[in-house]
Amino acid sequence: MIKVQARQVQREYQIKNSLGKKEKLTALEDFNLDINEGEFLSLLGPSGCGKSTFLNILAGLDKYDGGEIMMDGEELRERSFDRGIVFQSYALLPWRTVLKNLELGLEIRRINRRERRKIARHYLELVGLAAFENQYPHQLSGGMRQRVAIARVLAYHPGLLLMDEPFAALDAQTRETLQIELLRIWEADKKTILFVTHSIDEAILLSDRVAFMTARPGHIREIIDIDLPRPRTEDIRNSVEFARIRKSVWELLQHEVLKNQSFGAYL
Ligand SMILES: Nc1ncnc2c1ncn2[C@@H]1O[C@H](COP(=O)(O)OP(=O)(O)OP(=O)(O)O)[C@@H](O)[C@H]1O
Ligand SMILES: [Mg+2]
Repeated sequence: MIKVQARQVQREYQIKNSLGKKEKLTALEDFNLDINEGEFLSLLGPSGCGKSTFLNILAGLDKYDGGEIMMDGEELRERSFDRGIVFQSYALLPWRTVLKNLELGLEIRRINRRERRKIARHYLELVGLAAFENQYPHQLSGGMRQRVAIARVLAYHPGLLLMDEPFAALDAQTRETLQIELLRIWEADKKTILFVTHSIDEAILLSDRVAFMTARPGHIREIIDIDLPRPRTEDIRNSVEFARIRKSVWELLQHEVLKNQSFGAYL
């Protein structure tokens, strides 16, 4: 079943150019993408190509000016409790403690206090921050805040999980731990995940399919199936299969760079 169907989506922003004159900026144009129910799909593309724009539209935080987006067979509604987003920069409520931030989505879902605590603590432990439950966001480092944001959305358990470079601000070791943890959680309950990253290795490790966008105005240029077996563990990074897929992805990108210089801005 198809979870999300985007057809010829267009997004234009009104901006002021350097002379102060109003101008149109086309972020997305002719953007087509199907996301299957339960799949892990990564979105890659040069900076400014419209990845966050598309995620924000799916989250109901931004509108689109043309085309059509269907979710679960219906036209996309503006807000829905069934979508969760991890932003590129952490978005925590500064007046709530870490634990209370995690409980937020569970409150919206009307889960009782005891259960909320239990779930929130479980996910906090998962991201290695159990000892910080009573701290406020400003008392944490950037990477810790992002881990809280990730734990919060995992605890919330949405049907569609939108993750915008969630691991970009983390140190390499935490990043690798959370990649495997995310895979474990996803393999257990097979929610649909749309994951934006600039890392080809991360995309290969995690995804069923990797979609590559063009430079702005952004649309999908190519989609690659990642046929690595699951469950995927730490070891898969060093496997021959992984190296083979990485090589073919790079070859494809190099080919694109030759065709279109803007592709060089991938990483
Ligand atoms: N609210 C806005 N108003 C005006 N322009 C915007 C707005 N949001 C995004 N844009 C523009 O739309 C384009 C796409 O931005 P977007 O944030 O989606 O890029 P991105 O692919 O997520 O890039 P990055 O990899 O750097 O995060 C950019 O040129 C950006 O300047
Ligand atoms: Mg972005």
